Amino acid sequence: MLGLGTWENDDPAQCTESVRNALNAGYRHVDTAQIYGNEAAVGDGIAAADVDRDDVFLASKVWIDQLAPEDVIESTRESLDKLGTESVDLMYVHWPAGAYDPAETLPAFAELRDEGLIDRIGVSNFEPEHLDAATDALGETPFANQVEMHPLLQQEELREYAANNGIELVAYSPLARSHVLDDPVVTDIAEKHAVSAAQVSLAWLREKGVTAIPKATGEDHIRDNLASLALDLDDEDVAAIDSLGRDRSPAESGLRPGLVAEPSTTREFRTGFAAGAPYQSSPISRCCSPVHSSISKRYPRTPRIGCAAENTFGCHAFSIALRSSSHSPSSTAVIRPATETLSQSYTD
Ligand SMILES: NC(=O)c1ccc[n+]([C@@H]2O[C@H](COP(=O)([O-])OP(=O)(O)OC[C@H]3O[C@@H](n4cnc5c(N)ncnc54)[C@H](OP(=O)(O)O)[C@@H]3O)[C@@H](O)[C@H]2O)c1
Repeated sequence: MLGLGTWENDDPAQCTESVRNALNAGYRHVDTAQIYGNEAAVGDGIAAADVDRDDVFLASKVWIDQLAPEDVIESTRESLDKLGTESVDLMYVHWPAGAYDPAETLPAFAELRDEGLIDRIGVSNFEPEHLDAATDALGETPFANQVEMHPLLQQEELREYAANNGIELVAYSPLARSHVLDDPVVTDIAEKHAVSAAQVSLAWLREKGVTAIPKATGEDHIRDNLASLALDLDDEDVAAIDSLGRDRSPAESGLRPGLVAEPSTTREFRTGFAAGAPYQSSPISRCCSPVHSSISKRYPRTPRIGCAAENTFGCHAFSIALRSSSHSPSSTAVIRPATETLSQSYTD
């Protein structure tokens, strides 16, 4: 079920308008998160739409500093208050990081479900080993794993794991945060079908059995993405896109491997360097270890980063530098200090 992403749609009026327009246009799935700071605006959008709440699949995510059991319960209650709803259809563990401890965190999610405050338990940014541990802790597989996926990051291993274990895979950044839109393979296919590149990316994800949640603000993008449901790619198109993921290293594709830095990190990072100040801390510094293991496992040729707690920002710097390197010349100022920081923290 195609969903509407809302990360960085943080002007409340604009966010409410986007959600309302999307639902009125035909979307029935909205994705938000505690850390996006827009749950209230999303709730207002749902209330303003000509659609019953019961017909909307609403998902949110518990941030990593709220993953101790009592905080899971308390922060979810706050989310529901902000969203103006008695329950959400899906609540994710946002990252296996911070206060996350499968044996403690997941029973609290199960309690929320028992109490009727959430209908389903999801996880996000989980690798197979995290999914194994979560399944052990829950006594069942999570309903969904939300991860970055698009033609330039095809997540074959996680797709196979999801298919073998009956887990829904939900693709975030399904347009690779716009980077996929000027890929020549994608644009050629778009031209052939007289559709947009965004539609091609979304139709490819659908063909892979994955739910995509593109973020779209204005009505044009909202409608364009919805129209992807009418696009059927042929075998040749699918094969051409399949080959994209295999042939390119993350550096060549311009994307960092497997991580879109979450809002707080991105902002702090950019702010820090824009002001010429060294980047010293990150509110999600403990995200580092899953991110790092994910990078080194998937891309063994990438340099390893010293990942001790005191320099965890290296992973975020690294990921952003990789993502930005070939696509955003304007962010050179951001990349350069990141690289300097990283050069101090590489290990063999
Ligand atoms: N679980 C996680 O850790 C995690 C991480 C990242 C994202 N997410 C979720 O996934 C959602 C989507 O990912 P994302 O926001 O990172 O990136 P995305 O959906 O890949 O890309 C969003 C960008 O594409 C533009 N866009 C949307 N539709 C378009 C179209 N038809 N043609 C041209 N441009 C178009 C948007 O512009 P406009 O805004 O101007 O329309 C925006 O700049 C997020 O909003 C969030 O809900 C989750």
